[in-house]
Amino acid sequence: MILDIQVSDKNVSSQKTDCFAFLLPEDFKISNDIKTCAKDLGVDIEAYLRQHKFSGKKLETFYLPVVKDDTLSHLIFIGLGKPKVELEGLRRALGHLYKQTSSRKISSFALQMPQLSIIDAPAKLIAQQVSVTLGMAAYDFVEFITTDQERKEKYTNKIIVCVPSKDLPTFKNESKDGEIISQAVNKARHWINLPPMQVTPHELAQEAKKIAKKCDLKITVFDEKEIKKMGMGGLAGVSAGSDLDCHLVIMEYKTKKKNAPTIAFVGKGITFDSGGLSLKPAQSMETMKDDMSGAAAVIAGMEALAQLKPDVNIIGVAPLAENLPSGKATKPGDIVRFYNDKTAEVKNTDAEGRLILADALSYTVKHYKPDVMIDFATLTGACAYALGPFFSGMMSMHDELVDLVQEAADRSGDRVWRLPLHDDYEPAIKSDVADLQNIGNQQYMAGAITAARFLKHFVGETPWVHLDIAGTAFNVPDIPYYRTGATGVGVRLMVDFAMNYNK
Ligand code: BES
Ligand code: MN
Ligand code: ZN
Repeated sequence: MILDIQVSDKNVSSQKTDCFAFLLPEDFKISNDIKTCAKDLGVDIEAYLRQHKFSGKKLETFYLPVVKDDTLSHLIFIGLGKPKVELEGLRRALGHLYKQTSSRKISSFALQMPQLSIIDAPAKLIAQQVSVTLGMAAYDFVEFITTDQERKEKYTNKIIVCVPSKDLPTFKNESKDGEIISQAVNKARHWINLPPMQVTPHELAQEAKKIAKKCDLKITVFDEKEIKKMGMGGLAGVSAGSDLDCHLVIMEYKTKKKNAPTIAFVGKGITFDSGGLSLKPAQSMETMKDDMSGAAAVIAGMEALAQLKPDVNIIGVAPLAENLPSGKATKPGDIVRFYNDKTAEVKNTDAEGRLILADALSYTVKHYKPDVMIDFATLTGACAYALGPFFSGMMSMHDELVDLVQEAADRSGDRVWRLPLHDDYEPAIKSDVADLQNIGNQQYMAGAITAARFLKHFVGETPWVHLDIAGTAFNVPDIPYYRTGATGVGVRLMVDFAMNYNK
């Protein structure tokens, strides 16, 4: 379903929708808009809110169905919390609102935007984020539900966002961008949610090709034979146990602007991670279809960026493989040689992400010499344990780039938290028999960091940020604009970063 979001500078009560929605901070006053709306429906709204002790606390909800002239309308009020509202607070209120109307089978609502000055963000960003967030809230994964029509039915499919006339042009413009972004986020979520039998390396490469064709992007897809021939022993080694071919996808967006900088985004694309011969226990494998979340974000993000057309060149790279055990699988003790000729002892075949990224990163650096590079990878359980589901781990030695990524994270809602990538951790990945070993020595612990130190060997001098999204990619609780399953983490950050780079 595509959610229809319109913008209007008319009063909420004049909209032909089933429901009228208001977001109120803690020190709210009943606005004229609310009064008019309530009066039209014949409701003493002040008395209702008072009697229900509605105070505008975060996500507090007051809902009132009203029947007038034999038609049912709905009024809904959602709290925004403190008078100064963070952008993330607005996003969550919007997600919560959408869930409320959808679960009540309300097909359309008009939303009165609160005064923009109470939200701690510039008007343009607010306008964009309203659209992004509502678009994300409307996604769910019901393709395979056949018996329970209740669950399949999509209720809220039309929203009119009401703003003062002076903000109308901003909202109209940014709404369109927001829609492009939310569609990319939802596309990534969908690929991640689909069963791993369906989203194979080949299929994901096909999706990238479709996007490239539609958006006029250059695309290169290497197959397993070429990957072996080029000397990408990491990617080929991880794929060895699978009957499926691995691929390396490279998408290129070129700006018309002369002498523009080049940004590279690289995403881990393990379409299913069983652990390989170092087999995972059953429970840890349950969600391992999500191990291509980084690649999904990068490929879908390229589609958004191709439409938004920032003044930078962008390379989107996705190494794609399936990690399975078999008689042909890479074994613990095997030594692989990467694209940049470094070698690593594979001590644990479940630490496969760094092996495929090693080849992808060194290939990208060699052939595209990007000014900056960011990778997205569901790389370590350790990172998920350290930060939980709300922040991706950020590791880098380049403070300037870190600042830019941090800003993009704060604006976009794909939040990050920095962990050290200090030289002290380096001995953890030294091997007795090769340059590197693919798991950290026990004594050093810090599995997220030792994994990042491994990647560092493949980026040369390129300013680079590694984002570990193992905790944030799937089944994130309590954020109402997500739901069970994939979050599409990375897409919003990637798009924001590219759109604001060089600005
Ligand atoms: N894909 C996993 C990491 C992961 C774990 C992602 C949980 C999402 C949720 C990765 O390939 C992996 O298996 N990492 C190992 C590394 C270890 C063997 C050094 C891990 O974290 O256990
Ligand atoms: Mn693994
Ligand atoms: Zn993995």
